[in-house]
Amino acid sequence: MTAAIPFDDVGRERGAPPLVLLHGFPHDRTLWSAVVPALGRATRVIAPDLRGLGHAPVEGPYSMDRYADDVISILDARKVERAVIGGLSMGGYVAFALWRRHPGRVAGLVLADTRAGADAGAGRANRDRLVALARVKGTPVVAEAMLENMVGPSTRRERPAVVETMRAMMRRAPVEGVIGALEAMRDRPDSTATLATITVPTLVVCGEEDALTPPEQSRAMHEAIAGSRLALIPRAGHVPCVERPEEFAAAVTGFLETL
Ligand code: MLT
Repeated sequence: MTAAIPFDDVGRERGAPPLVLLHGFPHDRTLWSAVVPALGRATRVIAPDLRGLGHAPVEGPYSMDRYADDVISILDARKVERAVIGGLSMGGYVAFALWRRHPGRVAGLVLADTRAGADAGAGRANRDRLVALARVKGTPVVAEAMLENMVGPSTRRERPAVVETMRAMMRRAPVEGVIGALEAMRDRPDSTATLATITVPTLVVCGEEDALTPPEQSRAMHEAIAGSRLALIPRAGHVPCVERPEEFAAAVTGFLETL
């Protein structure tokens, strides 16, 4: 039997479904540390490590569907029928899978710094390059390769400690989970057609300086998801929850108040 997926469960329900927060790659649930206090005052927040990352078990196979089913196992264990599913970047890919597989469990979506499209030729080749790098040199080399675009130029200039927070988080990711996630992202399905199927309230949020999943992709998702809201976070890159936590939390709590 596989060990359980670890998660934080903080705050309390205030008549609305809890908020589940799914981190990106190669992150862990501490990605949310700076926003959990504010979000936890507004609602119950459940933040797991994704399989193979943080302290989660590293047993494969890895796929967006499997990550999604891991989240459902947590909701089942906590007897949570429906939740607002929030995911940043790879966490957003998981949120799409969760919506496709378990729409009845989704009360809303927060799609942060993510994209609907699948990896194309160059993107897939880059995943293979990073897998080979991880196998030979380990996680820290992959982390350093990804760090460049993880935060925006404003953060890099004004808040260098944030860069070090991200560096430490990414370097400690287990290599099995890093390889598994890279292969799962490389092989993930295109979610573009999924956007038009989304019928729950949705917030699309993105750092204005995000170079990995640029704001144009968020604008396109916002336009394709009927009734969705769009929040662009100034002076933030790919991880606005770490770079501009107050603004990120305000965007999410403002959205939750509309539910
Ligand atoms: C992430 O932050 O999860 C990654 O940048 C996603 C990706 O590499 O596609």
